Amino acid sequence: MLGMSAKGRVLIIDDEPGIRDLLSQTLSEVGGYETEIATDGLDGIEKIRSSEFDVIFTDLAMPRLNGMDFLKKCKEIDIKTPVVVLTGVSSMEIAVNSMRQGAYDFITKPFHLDKVVSTTKKIIEERKLFGRLASSQGSEVSLRTLNAELFKKLQEIATLHSISADVDDCHENKEIYARAAGMAAKLLTVNEVSFGIIQDGLLEIKSAIGIVGKAFPLAGTFLARVIDKRRHHVADVGETSPYDGAAMSSQFLAIPLVVGNEVFGILSVSGKADGTAFSEEEIYLAIDFVKKVASKIENNALYEVFFNNLVDSLKSLIATIEARDSYTKKHSERVTLYALQTAEAMHLGSDEIDTIRFGGYLHDIGKIGVRDTVLLKPGHLSDEEILEIRMHTVIGDEIVKPMKFFESEREIIRHHHENFNGSGYPDSALGREISVTTRILAVADSYDAMTSNRPYRRARTHEFAINELTRCAGTQFDPEVVRVFLETPIGGGIFT
Ligand SMILES: [Fe+2]
Repeated sequence: MLGMSAKGRVLIIDDEPGIRDLLSQTLSEVGGYETEIATDGLDGIEKIRSSEFDVIFTDLAMPRLNGMDFLKKCKEIDIKTPVVVLTGVSSMEIAVNSMRQGAYDFITKPFHLDKVVSTTKKIIEERKLFGRLASSQGSEVSLRTLNAELFKKLQEIATLHSISADVDDCHENKEIYARAAGMAAKLLTVNEVSFGIIQDGLLEIKSAIGIVGKAFPLAGTFLARVIDKRRHHVADVGETSPYDGAAMSSQFLAIPLVVGNEVFGILSVSGKADGTAFSEEEIYLAIDFVKKVASKIENNALYEVFFNNLVDSLKSLIATIEARDSYTKKHSERVTLYALQTAEAMHLGSDEIDTIRFGGYLHDIGKIGVRDTVLLKPGHLSDEEILEIRMHTVIGDEIVKPMKFFESEREIIRHHHENFNGSGYPDSALGREISVTTRILAVADSYDAMTSNRPYRRARTHEFAINELTRCAGTQFDPEVVRVFLETPIGGGIFT
């Protein structure tokens, strides 16, 4: 049922004046709709009680009555007007919930104004169509169609949500590059997807489905225009393919990946499985996906800079500790090297290798909290002094604890003096309770400790050290780690 205006009446509920005025202006000037605004949910309820609307747009976070409660209230008082929820990408779960509360659709912020107009148009047309269907074929048919629509929409949101979580899970940009094409293919049913980075006038393909080739020149193709204009482009059937120069047999959608102010890459999709043209919804879905990817890439880049600075600071901190104690100079570096060789020989994954790379450097970081008089004491240590030295594992753990991303390295720092049979410190952890990276580090650490000069004794020989490791395999050390260590260049005595 349409309101007074021929094109339709729209109610916009938002507590931010800037947003509601912009929406209202766009819908009336571009869309030709009659608009009214409400400042929050309660105001919205008053408006729909006194006047009739064809579409309602509502914000979620608002004073007095928020968007979710507004939806509930609409249900209670039996308002049938379709409500579109405006939401941030981060509150995708709220979007799913609002659909369950009866919202008709949702639009993620920052939204495209064209999308607001096209959504309004679509809803009003659909309502007209359903009105006709209901009168000509009975309400059962339209209800079934409505359910199918709703189901499709919910599926779309669930997919977008899971892909959004997948993107968030990629902590390294090379991982995003490698997975971008696959994720886009999950979002749209197409036969060809490519994700490329712009480099020296070429589009270097980082991941692709159905596209052969590693790099394509951009000059003279419509991709060059996409980069110039920083705007997506839909190329039609018959246009020249940027990949092989042939006339294309399906539509081709190219979306620029903008980071900062630069176009950094391009995601393109083509060859729709059902042979149809891209719908506006599909285009916006793909654009939202590329935006999500771009913002994650930017975050990762910032994080990498931050992380590298942090690692440099930690390394210089370790150097300071080692400088205090001339006997352990370069100890952390050597232990890391031995542990890495062992880990590689054991075919550990790249995550575990990275853990050893950082954890190896950091394992004795807690020694910063042990007094020089104890740390450097040449003679016999009292029980109390032994306890103080042992505290370096716990102190080190406390130092890196606030840095959330050092979880697996923390385990190395805390447990590198634990023994395989549970007789170590500080937690008496046993066997596989101790991570494999820590079990490797313990062997490397002991080997280096034995073969270096110490305040209380001179360095032992390589033979002595490997005899000790072998003797203590199964009690102090993981026997499998000892076996592999003895096969590495250092454990095999090549450098002695
Ligand atoms: Fe230690």
